[in-house]
Amino acid sequence: MEALYRKYRPKSFSQVIDQVQAKLVLQNAILTDRVSHAYIFSGPRGSGKTTLARILAKALNCPNRKDFEPCCTCESCVSIDKGNHPDVVELDAASNRGIDEIRRIRDAVVFKPMMGLYKVYIIDEFHMLTREAFNALLKTLEEPPERVVFVLATTNLERVPPTIISRCQLIEFRSFKEDDILQQLKFVASKENVPIDEDALKLIAKRASGGMRDALTLFEQVSSYALNDRITVETVERALGLAPIGTVEEYLRALMDGDPRQASEIVDRVYEEGYDIEQFIQICLEQVEEKITVHPSTEMIALARDLMNLTSEMRFFENKKMACKLLSMDIAAKRGTKAQPTQPAQEQTKNVERVEQKSEAVNVQSKPTDQIDISALLDYLREQGDMAMYVALVQAKIAKRDGTVEVSFLPSQRFQYEYLREKLFELEYLFKTQLKLNVTVELKVDEEREKQLLEKLQRMFPGRIKIEE
Ligand SMILES: Nc1ncnc2c1ncn2[C@@H]1O[C@H](COP(=O)(O)OP(=O)(O)OP(=O)(O)O)[C@@H](O)[C@H]1O
Ligand SMILES: [Mg+2]
Ligand SMILES: [Zn+2]
Repeated sequence: MEALYRKYRPKSFSQVIDQVQAKLVLQNAILTDRVSHAYIFSGPRGSGKTTLARILAKALNCPNRKDFEPCCTCESCVSIDKGNHPDVVELDAASNRGIDEIRRIRDAVVFKPMMGLYKVYIIDEFHMLTREAFNALLKTLEEPPERVVFVLATTNLERVPPTIISRCQLIEFRSFKEDDILQQLKFVASKENVPIDEDALKLIAKRASGGMRDALTLFEQVSSYALNDRITVETVERALGLAPIGTVEEYLRALMDGDPRQASEIVDRVYEEGYDIEQFIQICLEQVEEKITVHPSTEMIALARDLMNLTSEMRFFENKKMACKLLSMDIAAKRGTKAQPTQPAQEQTKNVERVEQKSEAVNVQSKPTDQIDISALLDYLREQGDMAMYVALVQAKIAKRDGTVEVSFLPSQRFQYEYLREKLFELEYLFKTQLKLNVTVELKVDEEREKQLLEKLQRMFPGRIKIEE
């Protein structure tokens, strides 16, 4: 059976969802007969690059074209849709990286089209070409033959040499809005007679992260799992191996309530039930994002930041479950302190009682420190598009001590540390202007933090935490 995403590939401009800029540029070029000899289609996976390249090829070759729209029924249109038109060549540079393919194209472009009016070469993932292949392509682009159009599609524009970009017309494709995906899924579901709840479709749309192909593939996976039963949110969760939303909520509650033990148990459960831990945290983060969008609160924003930290810190550990568990407990414990002030550090003799009290934070700093809220600064950086500084600060642990702000990183985050070291002056200036803090910034790599965190957690939960070497 034909895959759904192929079956529902738009055949004409009018069926293409969004991608307004791309459509406008191409339609105008066709209408005014000023089609460029080379386009770069740049954008994420499944955003319609191949789809629009084919529609362009059809429009250029269709004898019954109306304005810019191909007829989609003539021999030329049908064979382009089927992928067997002699003048429309699709090449995947990811598997044909070398110079031979490009030479073949260079030699072929001098001949007239066989069947239609234009030869169209669609090169997918063309950033993967080797240097020699790029150079050969460049030569062809420098002396564009008549009636040849190149469409160079890429998901990684930053890997394309500027010499190529400057010789092509660049058209950018965008990820789809969740709502656009939802509408398309609704359309396909009704066409395919698949009974499905709106919430279930919403969940699929969200999991597709902006890609239409992924959305349709996930939908297909879910509907074949459900056979003919009505599809609910639970069906989608089961079919796609997503942890139930109830568990997500429970985990978020444990973090917010400052309950490390509960948080740890939930992570265990998620793991034992076979869910992917990283995906679980990702879903939690999306859930928090949704909450913030509906109802912004400083607490939720802080939780989002903690979860982003967790995601990036977890990346450095081999044992994801352990890392997730410890870091989750850290987040919960930190929140526990907010509600009840930290007790003075004492000799730990009655571990069990201490666990019950749950008021001791997993505060790995020995000296008294003052956590500071830098969300205003983060907002500013995001607005400015300074993502490098933003990411570095999101991952840091930031504490204030008298006239000094200490920005510390785990050993695994040395790169961020090095990055900020170059920007120390700017950072102090930002603290002053965005946070009204006139302080000296001290950067450090905290070799001890990891070790202390593990030891502290071991003391809080005697016998329950194993440190796997
Ligand atoms: N703009 C769109 N409107 C409707 N459906 C779309 C659109 N873009 C993509 N799709 C759906 O997604 C599928 C994949 O699209 P397409 O092959 O054009 O993506 P692409 O951008 O070339 O992706 P890749 O970079 O992975 O090659 C299509 O077959 C179609 O079902
Ligand atoms: Mg493609
Ligand atoms: Zn036609």
